[in-house]
Amino acid sequence: MSASNMLKKTFPQVDAEGHNLPPSPAPSSPHGARRYNIATELVFTESNDQYNASSVPIYQSATFKQSSHEGGGEYDYTRSGNPTRTHLERHLAKIMSAQRALVVSSGMAALDVITRLLRPGDEVVTGDDLYGGTNRLLKYLATNGGIIVHHVDTTNPDKVKEVLSEKTAMVLLETPTNPLIKIVDIPTIATASHEANPGALVIVDNTMMSPLLLNPLDLGADIVYESGTKYLSGHHDVMAGVIAVNDASLGERLFFPINASGCGLSPFDSWLLMRGVKTLKVRMDQQQSNAQRIAEFLESHGFKVRYPGLRSHPQYNLHHSMSRGSGAVLSFETGDVSVSERIVANAKLWAISVSFGCVNSLISLPCRMSHASIDAKTRAERAMPEDLIRLCVGIEDVDDLIDDLQRAIAAIMSRSLSPDAALPIPSRDRKWNTSRLGARLGVDVVSAATAGVLTCPVITVIDRAIIEKASKGVPIRQTITSSFRSILSKPSGFFLGTPFLLIYAVYTSTYLTANTIDTVTSTLKDKPFSTVFPDTAKFLTTTAVNMGICVYKDARFARLFGANPQPPQPQGPSSTNGSPPTIPPRTTPPASCHPSGAMGAPKVPKISYTLFCLRDSITIFASFNIPALIAPSIPDAVAATPGMKAALAQFSCPALMQFASTPMHLLGLDLYNRQPPGGLGWRERALRIRRDYVPSCFARMGKIVPAYGVGGVVNIRMRAGLMGYLEGLEA
Ligand SMILES: Cc1ncc(COP(=O)(O)O)c(C=O)c1O
Repeated sequence: MSASNMLKKTFPQVDAEGHNLPPSPAPSSPHGARRYNIATELVFTESNDQYNASSVPIYQSATFKQSSHEGGGEYDYTRSGNPTRTHLERHLAKIMSAQRALVVSSGMAALDVITRLLRPGDEVVTGDDLYGGTNRLLKYLATNGGIIVHHVDTTNPDKVKEVLSEKTAMVLLETPTNPLIKIVDIPTIATASHEANPGALVIVDNTMMSPLLLNPLDLGADIVYESGTKYLSGHHDVMAGVIAVNDASLGERLFFPINASGCGLSPFDSWLLMRGVKTLKVRMDQQQSNAQRIAEFLESHGFKVRYPGLRSHPQYNLHHSMSRGSGAVLSFETGDVSVSERIVANAKLWAISVSFGCVNSLISLPCRMSHASIDAKTRAERAMPEDLIRLCVGIEDVDDLIDDLQRAIAAIMSRSLSPDAALPIPSRDRKWNTSRLGARLGVDVVSAATAGVLTCPVITVIDRAIIEKASKGVPIRQTITSSFRSILSKPSGFFLGTPFLLIYAVYTSTYLTANTIDTVTSTLKDKPFSTVFPDTAKFLTTTAVNMGICVYKDARFARLFGANPQPPQPQGPSSTNGSPPTIPPRTTPPASCHPSGAMGAPKVPKISYTLFCLRDSITIFASFNIPALIAPSIPDAVAATPGMKAALAQFSCPALMQFASTPMHLLGLDLYNRQPPGGLGWRERALRIRRDYVPSCFARMGKIVPAYGVGGVVNIRMRAGLMGYLEGLEA
């Protein structure tokens, strides 16, 4: 009998190598293929405990008695397996969408287990902004284990591809990197690594995101590991590491060194981690929302902030194409190491500590603390600012956290400690980025002008058709056909005519206002040239410019395309271009989208103005602010790339918003244009709005989609491309 067969007979629960493997976890949901959402998965566990204990019991035992000399027990020795640890491993595998999870004594122990798969001569490709401990272990292996380590900028897939070869055994990634918060494109690098060597293992350290926000195994990684000391446990009261894989044989290869060396997590620590994991969602939700507020606060006071939740982060779209959130670690520069040191020392609520993921907020100077094991020269080569402050945001009240930071900064400058005092920002951070400002403003004009040229002919024709339909009853299609004919027969008449020039002025100036505000803001905040800022000032200014010109434009359109101001014959059919109208002629003066009291039009009720203003501000907000905000949350199944997501959002937001704004449009028109002399009851008014709602929504979409969909995308894409070119000249 072979040794392995003998072993199997003696210990039927173990495999040929003596491993006592837990079975793979089944999805917990009882509803067939549908799994529970992660918030439920985190807390829901089942066990076969004899007393139905709600909390998994701690099996604080090194050995387990067997039923006979032949064994027979599920567990025999805790180094090989322990019920508390198994329970945790199954639970984590479920949460990490993995076939198998293994828990060990620390995050570094997890990496140590993984690197035991390497052989002398193997090559490892990894980042240049790594956690210091990872760097230290790899350096040790390079010095003592015959491993060749390539540190490259993994945030640039081309740099990774340059060093990939058939000798590449492992590609080790961290995203966001720590502390520079740079984003790594996991799917692209995983594909390139497997192309270079199908046997290469792509490994992701997911400590910064946790399984709540990112599943690297779903993005092409072979192994994911995390320091359980951080978000998974959440209270900095336990050291732990987790490894997860989807390949059963890889899982066994990883289990071997754990069993052999005894680095598996102890029963009590397994219990602590199990308890911590249950609250991951509530902790992380609070930590993330606090981090977002704090990042915005620091950025609005002129600091250079690195946080993937900020639109100014250069890889914002990439991060959100992979992750479900921004995490709770951010870093910022003050411009002066001694200022940074004193801010760290002055903060009271922020504990000075390495690590992150705890319910308490932490502050640190990475170059002096967590990354001090990387020598100063290497730090300089990797462009790691010595003044960088890292904030690991906890669950405290965010106003208290901001207040504490504000006081810490103000105290340095011996200013008033009032929370309302303006923050004294070191002069370097107040620097404006005026480089190539003239060229950038030129890009703003060219992008807006091009978008206008491409879209305004269509908008002019549709606008005319909407007004002629409302005022004279001319069918929309008829106006559109005759207008396009006249464009072809006499283009100069159309393009130099008042209607086109007015429309061109409205839309081009709206795009241009938004562009210029972005350029001015990026100059003042020293951000990349192409940054788009979805903020209130931009929204208000763009809306004001658009509406200001629109009011004038609509008054002129009413005059140009409207019905004769003399009341026509009631109910009698009017004739326009030989076609019978489809609605009775109006008994009121011409229809207009932005009625004006000028040019003989009746006095416009204030409520109509208010409704038109609301209608327009909703559309502008949906065109210039919302797309940037929602694009990253569009699922991959709907739009695969960040570019497609941005375009989809740019088209659909203004179009869909018409369903909300059209009732205002109709009511405004009704109160102004369609009010019969004797007045109209609210019931009839509601019925008329209901009758016109659907066709009006679509007619307005026909105008808005070219205006802000096509025009918006052309303007934004062209501006981003040209700004990127200018930035390339800078580099
Ligand atoms: C990104 C990252 N990976 C791994 C580790 C190592 O984890 P542990 O301290 O649990 O060994 C850390 C620790 O700070 C970390 O920040």
